[in-house]
Amino acid sequence: THLSLLPLEIEGEDMLMLTLRDVTQDKELQKAQVAARLAAESALTIERRSVEEQRHFLAMVAHEFRTPLSIISTTIDVLEMTTGDQRPEISAAFDRIKRATERLVRLIETCLNEDRLGEIGGSLAREPFDLIGLVRKVIQDSRGGTNAPRVEASLPDTSLTVTGDKALIKIALANLVDNAEKYTKADGRVSLRLTPYGDQAVVQVADSGMGIPESELPRIFDKYYRSPGAKGIAGAGLGLHLVKRIIELHGGRIEAASVMGQGSTFTVRLPLSMDSAPPEEPQSD
Ligand SMILES: Nc1ncnc2c1ncn2[C@@H]1O[C@H](COP(=O)(O)OP(=O)(O)O)[C@@H](O)[C@H]1O
Ligand SMILES: [Mg+2]
Repeated sequence: THLSLLPLEIEGEDMLMLTLRDVTQDKELQKAQVAARLAAESALTIERRSVEEQRHFLAMVAHEFRTPLSIISTTIDVLEMTTGDQRPEISAAFDRIKRATERLVRLIETCLNEDRLGEIGGSLAREPFDLIGLVRKVIQDSRGGTNAPRVEASLPDTSLTVTGDKALIKIALANLVDNAEKYTKADGRVSLRLTPYGDQAVVQVADSGMGIPESELPRIFDKYYRSPGAKGIAGAGLGLHLVKRIIELHGGRIEAASVMGQGSTFTVRLPLSMDSAPPEEPQSD
């Protein structure tokens, strides 16, 4: 029971008001509220911790895969050299093993980078680099014709300087090219255009592949999202999530446009560094 005394003055007379209140119900309500809050808080902590744990587990597994994979990879090379077997079915078999191993390596690198990004957040390498040179390397490293269309490049003559983490930007662009090749038949087209636009560098990766239904476009950048149409094509649904994070960490933006059955275009905009942007108007004081 709650008791309160309140001094009052009524028509010049001092009085005391005594209130008695049964607070059992109030107390119970309060207790229930506290319990609910604690439950919600601990659920949130558990949720956070398990997301954290999952990420580290993924990175750990990815890391453990690295060594055996590089053993497989070098052993294949040794084996191929020592057999010296020139029969086409043998070299085709070697090629298939190598491609599959490469794909695994790339997948694992994606998992490891995912973890690295989560940890470093804002503390990226910040150095100026030439985007055109980087794009050339991305094209060199692409499958370029092996079971996929060749990448047609359109690059400007001038240099385009971007400041940031070169290795991460390379991973981002390589992922876009990899998707374009992966989701396009070998007789289709994949193109990569790089153009300056005001104070931005615009990179467009376009393909004539299977396309993405409009209803799915908002979800393709979600972690682990894979279109039902991508069934049977290898992937983990991590690539575009990673790409978007890398681009946004560099103050850039990415968007996707697609027509089902006709192809997709991914457009990346990155801020250019001052030395390649047009000079600013002189200030008059
Ligand atoms: N160029 C593309 N053409 C068609 N679909 C694409 C393309 N790029 C991405 N997608 C769709 O977006 C999904 C997510 O892409 P991504 O995150 O790179 O994952 P993954 O390639 O591992 O499936 C893919 O599963 C696919 O459905
Ligand atoms: Mg991908």
